Amino acid sequence: MTNEVIKPVTSATFNKMKNNSEKITMLTAYDFSTAKYIDECGVDSILIGDSVGMTILGYDTTINVTIEDMITFTKAVSRGVKRALVVADMPFLSYHTSLEQTVLNAGKLIQSGAKAVKLEGAADFVINAIERLTQSGINVVGHLGFTPQSVNTIGGYYVQGKNVNAIEEMLKSAKKLEEAGVFAVVLEMVPEEAAKYITENLSIPTIGIGAGKYCDGQVLVIDDILGKFSGNIPKFVKKYANIKDTIKGAVSQYNDEVKNGIFPDSAHTFNLTDEEKKNLDSIIK
Ligand code: KIV
Repeated sequence: MTNEVIKPVTSATFNKMKNNSEKITMLTAYDFSTAKYIDECGVDSILIGDSVGMTILGYDTTINVTIEDMITFTKAVSRGVKRALVVADMPFLSYHTSLEQTVLNAGKLIQSGAKAVKLEGAADFVINAIERLTQSGINVVGHLGFTPQSVNTIGGYYVQGKNVNAIEEMLKSAKKLEEAGVFAVVLEMVPEEAAKYITENLSIPTIGIGAGKYCDGQVLVIDDILGKFSGNIPKFVKKYANIKDTIKGAVSQYNDEVKNGIFPDSAHTFNLTDEEKKNLDSIIK
């Protein structure tokens, strides 16, 4: 029997991959077995996204997700992963109130198994938070473009960086994140040309979601690519399976079989030995 040595992906691996023009793959996961399968397929990084709010918890936005929710899902995912770099989203309000709260909350995600945390935006308090986290030994990923935790101030799910001024602003923000210490930055819903310009002007890798093919890596939500999520599916999502129909087909068949006495059949039933059957018959009046 060969004991395969698994070399875990780290932030340094991300950096090396950018320098070697090797694409970085990332997917979200929220549970143990899905994380295990994603890891076994060789995906480089798994994000416990606060998209869990919509995919698993049934909220309309990510804003309702709490640090306690993220801790639970981070623990489940981390237990399933041997190689991929596990990144956990810091949810809304978990890094907004004070540096002390930020470090405590990020620390809880790291103690739950994440190897890095992700914060949205590049406001001054976010930059301060990133500096403090990296000084505390916590790896950080940034997130620019459309930032879902700010959906109410943005006013909707809109593409960001649609003109030269906005692109220059985004690059400035990305550089601030880079200087503060992030080792990668997610670019969400950004025109391909803008993402290319930003990617070429950073030394850290960009991970695109709806940001075209020139980013150093790509991330998508697992429920979207499997065709499981029942809400709105954005234009940038490619569906690689139709799990919703598979689930509904199996569940409908189970429902019909139980109602019609087809399940459970003998193959799925435990029986007494003939002798114990006789003993039981003898006490049944
Ligand atoms: O929450 C999430 O899943 C994310 C990705 C969409 C990047 O932040």
